[in-house]
Amino acid sequence: MPVKKGAQIAPAKGKLGVLLVGLGAVSTTFIAGVEAIKEGLAEPIGSLTQMGTIRLGKRTDNRVPKIKDFLPLADLKDLVFGAWDIFPDSAYEAATHAGVLEKELLEKLRKPLQKVKPMKAVFDQNYVKRLSGTNVKKGKNKLDLANQLIAEIAEFKRKNKCARLVMIWAASTEIFMTPHAVHRNLKSFEQAMRDNHRAIAPSMIYAYAALKSADADEDDHRARSKGAHAGPARLVFDKHSRQSRRRSA
Ligand SMILES: NC(=O)c1ccc[n+]([C@@H]2O[C@H](COP(=O)([O-])OP(=O)(O)OC[C@H]3O[C@@H](n4cnc5c(N)ncnc54)[C@H](O)[C@@H]3O)[C@@H](O)[C@H]2O)c1
Repeated sequence: MPVKKGAQIAPAKGKLGVLLVGLGAVSTTFIAGVEAIKEGLAEPIGSLTQMGTIRLGKRTDNRVPKIKDFLPLADLKDLVFGAWDIFPDSAYEAATHAGVLEKELLEKLRKPLQKVKPMKAVFDQNYVKRLSGTNVKKGKNKLDLANQLIAEIAEFKRKNKCARLVMIWAASTEIFMTPHAVHRNLKSFEQAMRDNHRAIAPSMIYAYAALKSADADEDDHRARSKGAHAGPARLVFDKHSRQSRRRSA
């Protein structure tokens, strides 16, 4: 999404919680890569944020700093990982099954990878036909499932003392769906969740939970800014989507 003029991006201060939906090949390779770099076992080859450069001014100016030295990006040491998956395997076990990385490297990273244990997933086989697992949430309807995610997100942030959070979708691809009338606005979307409407896929429930959590953080920040003791860093998920919503309101 293009950054609108005037959008504010929260400063990259404090710990950044990275919440991964799906703890499969992509997620475990990402976590293992970060941990390997932190341990000095690997170089961040291919990482735009760590190795990429940005040209400033004219080509002849020869000003080509690393992106991470130019933009306020989180340091890898400040990343904390959390995940949801329909299987209870830790990131170590999941990475071993995925078979992307060499066993020797995974053994060296066993400890940090074993610490990442997935929370119960929001999952429905109607949206990913060939998959079934046991680590799945139960709830009275889709809104209830979303509220369970929201509670977990808040708890993760509190427990890990995160200043900011980001959610990344790395779960199995769901069936193709077209937009439905219930997607039109928040009210119809929430009613559809209460009604367990089939136009609401699990991926949408995660997205709703992330945005709701960002709103809660925004309110919290506003309340604290008004008080005598303004809070530290702004706690946001995705500032841009909120800005665009506010503008269109
Ligand atoms: N592997 C690649 O090179 C690659 C490249 C581009 C895109 N992708 C996409 O990235 C996604 C992840 O790929 P991968 O290779 O890691 O797949 P994967 O099958 O190894 O991992 C996906 C994980 O998501 C879990 N999952 C499924 N539905 C879930 C839900 N509703 N909530 C929580 N967890 C759920 C599965 O149990 C599985 O562990 C897929 O959508 C894939 O199409 C993968």
